[in-house]
Amino acid sequence: MKVIITENYDEMSKKAAEIMIDIVKKNPNAVLGLATGSSPIGMYQNMAKDCKENGTSYKNVSTVNLDEYVGLTADHDQSYAYFMRTNLFDHIDIDQKNTNLPCGSAPDAQKECDRYNALLETKKQDVQVLGLGSNGHIGFNEPGTAFDSVTHLVDLTENTIKDNSRLFNSINEVPRQALSMGIKNIMQAKSILMVVSGKNKAEAVKGMVKGEITPDLPASVLQLHPFVTIICDKDAASLL
Ligand code: GLP
Repeated sequence: MKVIITENYDEMSKKAAEIMIDIVKKNPNAVLGLATGSSPIGMYQNMAKDCKENGTSYKNVSTVNLDEYVGLTADHDQSYAYFMRTNLFDHIDIDQKNTNLPCGSAPDAQKECDRYNALLETKKQDVQVLGLGSNGHIGFNEPGTAFDSVTHLVDLTENTIKDNSRLFNSINEVPRQALSMGIKNIMQAKSILMVVSGKNKAEAVKGMVKGEITPDLPASVLQLHPFVTIICDKDAASLL
């Protein structure tokens, strides 16, 4: 596990974008595993700026996202599909038909999970971007999720619902369920790039890097992956 500590969010975002851009330049057909949340927004902005200014092309890149809320259609402004379009896809030259997310409004959740797992068999991530939940979750794999899990329907914990409620008008609007890649799907990536920012993540960062490897802290599984880079700002790294 390589841990890079930066002064602040902006420096974290720049460094993370450099890694992503380098992967795309070396492999124009790369499969990028992407994440939502506030942590990667700055990284996406830097990628968009580089695409515009330096012409790094995503024409042949494809993407697979970690997760999606159940019950939200792709045009809902809190859906992760909407997040990806507005924060990245609309600002780079990617072909939208090469972008993939689980569909939160699919009528049969299990069928949709099966479809996504089959897709991931054919699209192994060259890199998987991750954020970190304050309870140590990755994707929406909450504490207790088995390390051999694949894409599944998740009941979100009260902790996650509360954390994510800041983006909704009220806590009652936050979906209670999500579809998420499982830990096995995440671990199949050739490399993993995590971005973490803020004091509220410090405990989880400490557990992930130095603690026991346990499903109680899902991100601790990353200790078992050979190519993990964690870029965290000073606040998130404050307990290391
Ligand atoms: C959500 C997402 C995760 C993300 C986490 C942290 O729960 N499903 O993929 O890592 O939030 O979000 P943030 O970066 O906003 O703190």
